[in-house]
Amino acid sequence: MKFFLDTGNVEEIKRITKLGLVDGVTTNPTLIAKESRPFKDIIKEICDVVDGPVSAEVIGLTVEEMVKEAHELAAWAPNVVIKLPMTEAGLEATYELTKQGIKTNVTLVFSAAQGLMAAKAGATYISPFIGRLDDIGTDGMILVKDLKTILSNYGFKTEIIAASVRNITHVEEAAKAGAHIATIPGSLLPSLWKHPLTDSGIERFLKDWENVPK
Ligand code: E4P
Repeated sequence: MKFFLDTGNVEEIKRITKLGLVDGVTTNPTLIAKESRPFKDIIKEICDVVDGPVSAEVIGLTVEEMVKEAHELAAWAPNVVIKLPMTEAGLEATYELTKQGIKTNVTLVFSAAQGLMAAKAGATYISPFIGRLDDIGTDGMILVKDLKTILSNYGFKTEIIAASVRNITHVEEAAKAGAHIATIPGSLLPSLWKHPLTDSGIERFLKDWENVPK
């Protein structure tokens, strides 16, 4: 499973890249707004640090606006992936950009039908939002499982990015379901490598080590 970092924070990306855990980055307008810096500066700096796809989201809602913005964003760095909303215009823009050889990530996917449409339009990646589905009282992981089945049934090359990941279980279940990628907030990552029994085990080993004759 590949791990993307779901953040616009360059320092966080630099720190976690040192652990060998970062295969790519996803951003969205909310994450970019938290940084209080120009969008272009952030994306260019992330692309310099990360040797993998970096999703940058368009703001326009028409096909023309999305394609125009996509060309601007794609010119910032060779590893920029254009993130587009799952709308009719988003599908048309995805189809157009795919024909032009520009990589896309269709975001805000909340149903298997939406994911299938995005894959048909040629999306490089689709982003089902697990946490936001859980928030409305459904099981977001079912969507990841269904999309995996559908894409496998027909041999789509589109990769599933498990998005809106909120806890360890989301990552573990997405991995078991065969999601190609999980995009994870930097703040959640330590809980993936930490375990209280590891900490108490180290403490015990160090204590016992004191009894070894020096
Ligand atoms: C990723 O591409 C999404 O932008 C992100 O995972 C959304 O997460 P949220 O639902 O926690 O905002």
